[in-house]
Amino acid sequence: MKDVMIATGNSNKVREYREILEPLGYVVHDLKEIEHLEVEETGSTFAENALIKAESLKGIYDMIVIADDSGLEIEALDNQPGIHSARFLAGYDYDYKNRTILKMLKDEKNRKARFVCAIALVDEEKHVFEGVMSGSIAYEMKGDNGFGYDPIFMTEEYGLTSAQLSPEQKNAISHRGKATRLLLEYLKGKNR
Ligand code: IMP
Repeated sequence: MKDVMIATGNSNKVREYREILEPLGYVVHDLKEIEHLEVEETGSTFAENALIKAESLKGIYDMIVIADDSGLEIEALDNQPGIHSARFLAGYDYDYKNRTILKMLKDEKNRKARFVCAIALVDEEKHVFEGVMSGSIAYEMKGDNGFGYDPIFMTEEYGLTSAQLSPEQKNAISHRGKATRLLLEYLKGKNR
């Protein structure tokens, strides 16, 4: 049995990683199970921040460490909120954050946007798996599924916001779904 530490206290993320890793024979640990650890994300890309989180824990736990970082890049806003997506307008709820973004883009014709997810795996080797979901910022909020910026993100594939998709539909095209499938392929290859 191989142990894996998921460098997050987010129980949804932990559950998703468990579903992928346990069938491959891994024993999954998470930060909540052990302790809460704050890591300063000082990188300038999603990949750098994911690696910073994974490497900081690798120094403490003698097992494979997986960490991820994700966010929304809006072209007309200089790719903001980007790596600051979780901290953008800190203290306000997503209803307010999404309304603010719609206001900022009110007269903007270029509505191109993308979600990015980087998953870092640190073992004897380091790997980063990256997934992108391309789309645009909608003109109004739509949909009740998903979380965060989903209600204002218009997907290319469906012509619906990602908050209007079922979890299965979103997973098939999402940044996180794509990065996760790359991680899975890598681990399957390693265990062959
Ligand atoms: P982190 O990856 O936990 O650092 O959080 C990234 C932040 O990006 C989240 O708090 C959301 O604001 C945003 N984000 C990342 N992925 C998604 C998504 O799939 N839908 C909506 N918002 C997302």
